[in-house]
Amino acid sequence: MTKINTTNKTLADIPAKYCRIILTEDNTNWHRLVETKEGGLEYRMGAGKRKNATPRTFRTLVRLIVLQAKTHQLENIAIHLGAMGCPKLEAMGEEWFFRTLSENLQLAQYEFNVYKTKPDKTKKLQEILVCGISSPVEKQSFSTGLTIGEGANITRDIANTPSDDMTPSLLAKATQNALKGTKAKVKIFDQKAITKEKMGLLLAVGKGAYDPPKFIVIEYWGAGKPTGNKKDSNLKPIALVGKGITYDSGGLNVKPSGSMHEMHLDMSGGASLIGTMYAIAKLGLKKNVVAFIPAAENSISAESMRAGDIATSMSGQTVEILHTDAEGRLVLADAMTYAAKYYTPSVMLDVATLTGASLVALGQQASAIMTKNQSLQNTLVELGEETGDLMWPLPLWEEYKASLKSTRADLANIATNFSRFGGCIEGGTFLSFFAPKKTPWAHIDIAPRMDSIPSDKLAKGATGEPVRMLVRFVETYK
Ligand code: BES
Ligand code: MN
Ligand code: ZN
Repeated sequence: MTKINTTNKTLADIPAKYCRIILTEDNTNWHRLVETKEGGLEYRMGAGKRKNATPRTFRTLVRLIVLQAKTHQLENIAIHLGAMGCPKLEAMGEEWFFRTLSENLQLAQYEFNVYKTKPDKTKKLQEILVCGISSPVEKQSFSTGLTIGEGANITRDIANTPSDDMTPSLLAKATQNALKGTKAKVKIFDQKAITKEKMGLLLAVGKGAYDPPKFIVIEYWGAGKPTGNKKDSNLKPIALVGKGITYDSGGLNVKPSGSMHEMHLDMSGGASLIGTMYAIAKLGLKKNVVAFIPAAENSISAESMRAGDIATSMSGQTVEILHTDAEGRLVLADAMTYAAKYYTPSVMLDVATLTGASLVALGQQASAIMTKNQSLQNTLVELGEETGDLMWPLPLWEEYKASLKSTRADLANIATNFSRFGGCIEGGTFLSFFAPKKTPWAHIDIAPRMDSIPSDKLAKGATGEPVRMLVRFVETYK
């Protein structure tokens, strides 16, 4: 782990053990490592023209600094960044600038080495010293960003862990562990309690696995717990629902071999809620938020759900399981029903690695969002742009619903004609049958962001998205 420290000194005044990072207006592919007269090191790197800097290029630049420091095996680096001369960054405000700086330093220093047994002999980046942090706003925003980045890295650790070490019961333990000592309260429902709540879809998905399903609820009452009093309607919590499939083999409709090996990441939606709850509890946000994670392994055995089975959801609607690999929408449906029934939320977001089709639609740059609430859609797109967890909308029109009407049951979990078109929307449409009727709800398909891509300048594996966006959503939602 790299330490990230701040100082009010300038680059010129710090000890020689730090390699000073000097940004120039050259192209971002230009860089030189030079020895200074005093015998220290200086790394000069192109950052492009200041007047052209945008929030997007700034985030990438911050990550690139850390990446280059690692590549050159620098052990201590010092940086001094400011928005001056970058109109588009200045326009975002000081708080955004320092928070974004520290978030991205935190995300970029992360590595997942838990399963490496041979000691790595290369020199490690020990410390990043950030110069010129002096005013209360600078200190506060920087520290907030570090906490949010930490939350995202907790998400990455949980998501990156192989499925044998992150079964539903181990995911429940990891949740308790991550939130220990915070004001967030974790409740774990075992199979018996899930059965009592009649969550028939979650049970169906988890049936084939050795480790039975768990339902994880995380409560955070930062604004005070509602008492049932009518005046408390402004205390209604934000509900976050996250897919917690600890491994997705596809079930009896087994996945082809090339498509299975990354499916330990299929609980990334749930993991992102753990990181989000960690951050909002640590920051002490004065908001009420409850997270719901239906956790199950979609496995293959004599007990597995079969294509053609019909299961009864907690909502009472029956579902013909036409495809056992469309399991995420099943577990989410019951969790959404539970959230609406017991918590009457003010707004509901669900976060899930739901469809491969979302990657077909958007590539791997942004998560897909679907909602009938225009203002919620605008908010999510804007916060995506502001935080870097990019979100892009797809329609959720009534017309899509027809293809999911089953002849044998109320609904089918895929289009009854087995159409492969519009698969991402199909997932959102299925969930819309379980969304609360009068509460704004948005579905976020994060499958495009499940795994990092080279342009992210992050460690391979889980991205920790959309923790930054969710924290901002909780902070700003009215
Ligand atoms: N977890 C997968 C979706 C996924 C695929 C996420 C690739 C990330 C990368 C999901 O459970 C799934 O299998 N979806 C199916 C749905 C289909 C059967 C309608 C899919 O995308 O093929
Ligand atoms: Mn699946
Ligand atoms: Zn899945």
